[in-house]
Amino acid sequence: MPLVNMKPLLRDAMDNGYAVAAFNLVDYNTTKAMVKAAEELNAPVICQTSAKTIKYFSHKEIVSWVRTVAEDSPVPVVLHLDHCKDIAMIEACAKAGWTSIMIDASELPFEQNLTESLKVREIAEKYGVGMEAELGQIMGVEDDEHVAEEDSVLTDPADAKRFCDALDLSAFACAVGTAHGFYRGEPVVDFDRIAAINAATRTPMALHGGTGLSDETFAKAIARGSAKINISTNLKHVWVKSFVDYHLANPKDFEPLRVGDAQYQACKAMFHGFIEKFGGKDRGPAFLNKLPKAA
Ligand code: 13P
Repeated sequence: MPLVNMKPLLRDAMDNGYAVAAFNLVDYNTTKAMVKAAEELNAPVICQTSAKTIKYFSHKEIVSWVRTVAEDSPVPVVLHLDHCKDIAMIEACAKAGWTSIMIDASELPFEQNLTESLKVREIAEKYGVGMEAELGQIMGVEDDEHVAEEDSVLTDPADAKRFCDALDLSAFACAVGTAHGFYRGEPVVDFDRIAAINAATRTPMALHGGTGLSDETFAKAIARGSAKINISTNLKHVWVKSFVDYHLANPKDFEPLRVGDAQYQACKAMFHGFIEKFGGKDRGPAFLNKLPKAA
């Protein structure tokens, strides 16, 4: 089916107490594996792209991969742009066929962040796509940008309300104690803050830094309004490790399709696990049935 807009999907997730898994694709094989995993579970999924991945391939290539696998699939698939600071690139994604775009101007003071995010609000409206924006600073490394622990700023619920009221977001990215990359110690997630932000904004929350969080953390965050959970680092590791493991186990096999299939199967199993854990199973048809039918 055609790609879907992220806004109604995340509303459905928030209203029904599940989260949609959002994976940062790295190539065609991983794109196909995430949609197949969703299909096996009748679940929605978000294929998201880091800005550097788009620069490495191109808008045209990525949109063709995601559309190809989504068109052959009965489950709802979103193509979303993850953390992006470049407004020209954001507009290029919306124009090329992304169904959701993210502006990350979170390093700027509140008013400037809002001003930049409002520019992206106009782009989202022009192209009829979903939108995510960020307030507060999430620690760790994402898209080669590093936010040190001491520089991370947890999001204030009152500021979050002002920000979300002005932007009508599909997903609100905020800092609640999670971090991009692997956790060095036990993550300290501020569940009361998640609940307070959700109560103030009534906006589906995007929980960043999903790699390394416990099942209990996921469940508690989802129960408090996290409707989109991002996983990137875990995929990078499974992608490399499955390649290396296959070669070590089969040192004389140089058939690329078999090595690629080992990676595909390992990534698919990982996607499957997260989608199920976030409560996505069987949510695809239920969501699609609620969408208004085309005349
Ligand atoms: P991880 O790399 O920790 O999985 O976080 C992903 C993310 O939040 C992408 O925006």
